[in-house]
Amino acid sequence: MSALAKTNELPFAPSPLSPVLGAEVRGYDVKTLTARDVPALKVCVRDAQVLVFRDQNLTPQEMVGFLRMIGEPQYHVLKRFLMSEAPELYVLSNVKEEGQPVGNAYEGMGWHTDLKGQDKRTAFTVLYGREIPPEGGHTCFASMYRAYEALPAERRRELDGMKFIYTYETQYYNRLKLLADKGITDHSYSTSLSPEQMEYAKRRHVNPIVDVNPYNGRKWLHMATGGCAGVEGMEDEAGVKLVLDLADFATSAPFRYDHAWRVNDLVMWDNYGLFHVAGEYDKQKHRRLIWRGSIADER
Ligand SMILES: [Fe+2]
Repeated sequence: MSALAKTNELPFAPSPLSPVLGAEVRGYDVKTLTARDVPALKVCVRDAQVLVFRDQNLTPQEMVGFLRMIGEPQYHVLKRFLMSEAPELYVLSNVKEEGQPVGNAYEGMGWHTDLKGQDKRTAFTVLYGREIPPEGGHTCFASMYRAYEALPAERRRELDGMKFIYTYETQYYNRLKLLADKGITDHSYSTSLSPEQMEYAKRRHVNPIVDVNPYNGRKWLHMATGGCAGVEGMEDEAGVKLVLDLADFATSAPFRYDHAWRVNDLVMWDNYGLFHVAGEYDKQKHRRLIWRGSIADER
């Protein structure tokens, strides 16, 4: 079933952005979305994996209205860059006002899925591009359905039943190490977590590597890179290596769509079956400002 097959139930007509994944919608204002349209919209996003609405004109409240139309918005775990007038939105930006950063400039490093929310899983992530650098800063996506389907049958059998372990703590300290390795010191991550954050951070999330999207029954490679602490039943180091090697394969060109942002793009993706990473841009030279929202899974 393709996104295009659902066109007749949607108030807009998406067209493919790449042969792998992604579709775009032109000439449609997301403020006109009604509750009746939502089931077809969800099917469309799950089929296309990434849906881009071009030329949107939204206030923070209107973007939250869009999130609420689809489901229950979530609040980002890092509170510092929640928008004061709309705390459902989190600001991704390298912009500084009066010397203070207005957003997190180093979010989304390392291939990952946003699926692991705090209490509930995060089904959909929505980004709205307000200021976009003229080069770089792509958001890169890889289809974990396509990567799974491309594996030899024998490898698929080997992976079946394997489980990887994710902890926020692993992700946090790997991120700090990555920033330090790059000589980046002006990031907004503190070097330690509060006791409250640490309690969450130490929680082990165990997931099958060969996972099934409960909404469409498709099998996908469910992994983490920065947050992977190992594989059940293996030495930690060997488990992490297995996952990172698999992630290298799964994020290679045949499974990729790299989104080149335009100002006022609203990009919505399904966290099942999909990996993403923030592409780099020249943070000294160019400004970027993106609003981020997410929607809780219904299950
Ligand atoms: Fe992300």
